[in-house]
Amino acid sequence: MANLWIKKSISSLQGEAEGEKGGLKRTLSARSLVALGIGAIIGAGLFSITGTAAANNAGPGITISFVIAAVACAFAGLCYAEFASMIPVAGSAYTYSYATMGEFIAWIIGWDLVLEYAVGAATVSISWSRYLVKFLGYYDIHLPPELTLSPFNTATLADGTIVSGMVNLPAVFIVILMSLLLVKGTKESALVNGIIVALKVSVVLIFICLGWGYINYDNYSPYVPTNTGEFGNFGMSGIVRAAAIVFFAYIGFDAVSTAAQEAKNPKRDMPIGILVSLAICTVLYLLFAHVMTGVTSYTSFQGADGIAPVAVAIDHMGEIGANGVVTPAYPWLNKAIILAILAGYSSVILVMLMGQSRVFFSMSKDGLLPKVFSAVHPKFGTPAKSNLLFMLFVSLFAAFVPADIVGEMTSIGTLLAFILVCVGVLVLRKTQPDLPRAFKTPLVPLVPILGIAACLFMMVFLPGDTWLRLIIWLAVGFLIYFGYSVKNSRLNNPNKKDEE
Ligand code: ALA
Repeated sequence: MANLWIKKSISSLQGEAEGEKGGLKRTLSARSLVALGIGAIIGAGLFSITGTAAANNAGPGITISFVIAAVACAFAGLCYAEFASMIPVAGSAYTYSYATMGEFIAWIIGWDLVLEYAVGAATVSISWSRYLVKFLGYYDIHLPPELTLSPFNTATLADGTIVSGMVNLPAVFIVILMSLLLVKGTKESALVNGIIVALKVSVVLIFICLGWGYINYDNYSPYVPTNTGEFGNFGMSGIVRAAAIVFFAYIGFDAVSTAAQEAKNPKRDMPIGILVSLAICTVLYLLFAHVMTGVTSYTSFQGADGIAPVAVAIDHMGEIGANGVVTPAYPWLNKAIILAILAGYSSVILVMLMGQSRVFFSMSKDGLLPKVFSAVHPKFGTPAKSNLLFMLFVSLFAAFVPADIVGEMTSIGTLLAFILVCVGVLVLRKTQPDLPRAFKTPLVPLVPILGIAACLFMMVFLPGDTWLRLIIWLAVGFLIYFGYSVKNSRLNNPNKKDEE
């Protein structure tokens, strides 16, 4: 009978991290790791969700929601940093759980991470497709809606006809492009990511600086609009609901930990990559949200879909004429923002896809998944076959599933992973207090406990059907675990020869 709670020893994991011949290449510096974090973090959450959450849930108090979500992420980030510096292997939360809570929990978390990374990549690619359609529209290029929407979405044409989508081809296109870049090499991917990060951070800074001069302080009053009587619609419950929604904007800093096996100096640089990218993005988010809700009333974002709010804010940056109409001072900024968004979302997709293949890489090395997921390309030094398989899987989601469903699945999956990483820190501090830790989470047990509480709290605020999808997803995972992984686990079957 297999032992579901069998644990991997830290020393064997550290041995794996030392690297093996034909393994992943160590090419990433501290700076590339920070860029990787920012590349994964700034995306649809900031540009699409900030405005809608301000309009529907929090008003100008959206900045408070960003602070709440950031604090929760900081607790989890500190726990990730401890593990990533101590066990610098590609599996991230999966590997940490294997060492602390045993194989079965590790499997659950590895399987759950598919929701964060693969489904997350699909979510952002769907958003990317919407922006591409808008951007091409500026140049009078109109793609047929049937080919840019999932079968569950409809579009209203200029003549009022409603058409249903068939397949979201632009979303598939960007997934394929990013997957091929990953196949080519981690160094190349990091280079492209670095360029994109510079571009998107510049545009965010331009938005903040140009908008700052047009802030009208009357727009901040009331800072927390009165609750409408419905839970989550303004008032304090709205602030917390918005925190659970904008949590999506922070997802990605943890993806840095999946690059641990490719970092040149993981012990020192992993905590830097995770915590510095999170800190930079938090500051940018707060300033961005402050400007957005300062240049115009949050009510002007109401009724706008995910694309419009930033454009609405930019249109309100200008002098108000005698007729009360604003003449936009920076009409070009709208196009620049969309370009930055298109590039920016690409890097989110890139890092998410990378994180996904690295988690499966570790699971496959441990025998819990077929060996194809840990086959390293002899020339490129990347898990190329795995990248291609995920290209297929994520493309299917991107082509046929609507964005809101996949978005909430990403959030719930990530929150669960964060909770288990915080639990893992508590467990390992108790069971192996003397292990050398290059980075130590401060104030243990307080910080991990607060991390668990904050993430649980936000999970509770996600809709019931998202919970149901999580449970179904985990049930599928159990079937695979008991049908395949238990029998092939290296730890549980030390004498078994590898199978393809
Ligand atoms: N944080 C990432 C985004 O907002 C997932 O797109």
